[in-house]
Amino acid sequence: MKKLNKKLLIGTGVAFSLLFSPFSQAFAEEPTTGERKQVDNVAHRGAAGYAPENTIASFGLAVDMKADYIEIDVQRSKDGELVVIHDTTVDRTTDGKGKVGDLTLEQLRSLDAGSWKGEEFAGEPIPTFEEILDRYHGKVGILIELKAPELYPGIEEQVAEALSERNLDKPQNEKIILQSFNFDSMKKMDELLPHVPVGVLTSNRALTTKAALKEISTYAEWFNPSYGIVTEDVVNEVHSQGMQIGSWTVRSQEAADFLFDMKVDAIITDYPDYVDPRNE
Ligand code: G3P
Ligand code: CA
Repeated sequence: MKKLNKKLLIGTGVAFSLLFSPFSQAFAEEPTTGERKQVDNVAHRGAAGYAPENTIASFGLAVDMKADYIEIDVQRSKDGELVVIHDTTVDRTTDGKGKVGDLTLEQLRSLDAGSWKGEEFAGEPIPTFEEILDRYHGKVGILIELKAPELYPGIEEQVAEALSERNLDKPQNEKIILQSFNFDSMKKMDELLPHVPVGVLTSNRALTTKAALKEISTYAEWFNPSYGIVTEDVVNEVHSQGMQIGSWTVRSQEAADFLFDMKVDAIITDYPDYVDPRNE
């Protein structure tokens, strides 16, 4: 029943916004050859093709480039603070070394997370999760990935609390979506925040069967596969199970064009400008 209500509320929100949108006429008519549906343009780790991933520089650029969402990776410091970084170590994207979970917030914040991408980004810090919520909610959608949540017991409750404190746990509230490769973590998030859409991430073709998608649809609103396993049949089956599909990671115009042709609902891209020109 809870699941039904969640789907209904989200669906009602979509229908309501379509009714009053300039696209309502287009949706009411039969699409003609060559027409493109609108897709959500999701800036992967920010505009990570142009600026250091998961930093304010990257998220700010994504907003300037008119992305619909920023995608962020959330982990936890040794002293329990939620931080935004992709790898489970700081080695690749900062001037430090070690596991994220072995370093305190102060140690993490002292690192340079920008220089590896270019000297003009020197000194960019690792953001905190709450800093990103406060800076961007209401300005741009936020696709929140719980990265390796199995390393951080209780991180689901912490994320839920940070969202609830900001009233971001309401239906259709300011475009917040949760996602993870860890499906159990997303089942938990669905129970903790029944009105916030959740998604599952995978590159596993075996999870694109009707039976697998049906099971996933009992708790998820989004099925988010790597684009290598996207086909028209997969997109249709995801839709027939009442879910939406967002695919990653676009790093070429060809990949963006392929996903437009597949009629996915969201394109997750390092280059928001590869999506925009065709997204009218
Ligand atoms: O949003 C999809 C994408 O972020 C999943 O892969 O490794 O970039 O976090 P990854
Ligand atoms: Ca991610």
